[in-house]
Amino acid sequence: MEGVPSEGGLTPFPLGRPARMAVLASGRGTNLEALLQAFPPGNPWGEVVLVLSDNPEAYALERARSRGVEAVALPWRGRRAFEAEALALLAQKGVDLVLLAGFMRLLSPGFVEPWYGRLLNIHPSLLPDYPGLHVHQRVLAAGERETGSTVHFVDQGMDTGPILLQGRVPVLPGDTPKTLESRVLFLEHRLYPKAVRLLLLGLAFPPPKGLGGLLGEEAARRFEALSPRERPLYLRAWALLRAWGQEALAGLAFLGQGGVWGQGAFLTAHLLAQDHPALRAELATLPEAVRTRAEAVLKRVESPL
Ligand code: GAR
Repeated sequence: MEGVPSEGGLTPFPLGRPARMAVLASGRGTNLEALLQAFPPGNPWGEVVLVLSDNPEAYALERARSRGVEAVALPWRGRRAFEAEALALLAQKGVDLVLLAGFMRLLSPGFVEPWYGRLLNIHPSLLPDYPGLHVHQRVLAAGERETGSTVHFVDQGMDTGPILLQGRVPVLPGDTPKTLESRVLFLEHRLYPKAVRLLLLGLAFPPPKGLGGLLGEEAARRFEALSPRERPLYLRAWALLRAWGQEALAGLAFLGQGGVWGQGAFLTAHLLAQDHPALRAELATLPEAVRTRAEAVLKRVESPL
């Protein structure tokens, strides 16, 4: 697909070159492993060039080193010291994107603000439900029938920040926190690399300020009324219309009046998050110009190499 122009300031991506990524991890690092596999050295999307941990014992550090990726322990001596050293290393390595993967510390505004839009976290629940710790126990205790995982832009809260992508798994009879954890981890190992690909293509960004000016007041009101879980779909549809040279239709598309391009953008935005045979069938009925663009971006995200 064509790139999404970044002059509008919606997102610095696509970069026009492979991205340099850093991962921050505190523990065993299975999500790190999935990211290392998805973005190895020389990968055209980008590569993980640095792994940082606040915990010198973290197995995540071993995982990085065994793949030849630089891994640095910055033992926790307080937030200020950790963040100063981490920020210096990120700058030194020319990092474009920071991924928290089981990083169990809260970052201060001084770290988060300059990286906003380029700093992601993964959390094992369907946020905004169940932020914090002991998620699977709490999900089971509440009798939920479904859970999942969320990749989100990091802001100053704990597990808050605009949602980028979510995936769902069922809670089944007989589940324990352990069985639920492994089901969610299996999902996460696919979800996180996919969320990164969407970001790198310019198809994910935090909601910009001044939406009324960008999309029209009515479309902005429609967007503001959406739940945090619904918003990423609209942002993806907007980015797709931009990439397809149809940005003028974005406001109308938000109101369901974007014609075949709007329809194609919303179908594609949905399919990028989750496959669905009925939506594929609907896409197939759209004019060829829309369909070929939609199919190209779906292929790019689903068969990344
Ligand atoms: C993952 O499930 C991740 O979502 C969660 O920690 C686990 C790390 O596992 N993160 C949080 O709870 C952040 N609030 P891993 O070390 O095997 O990747």
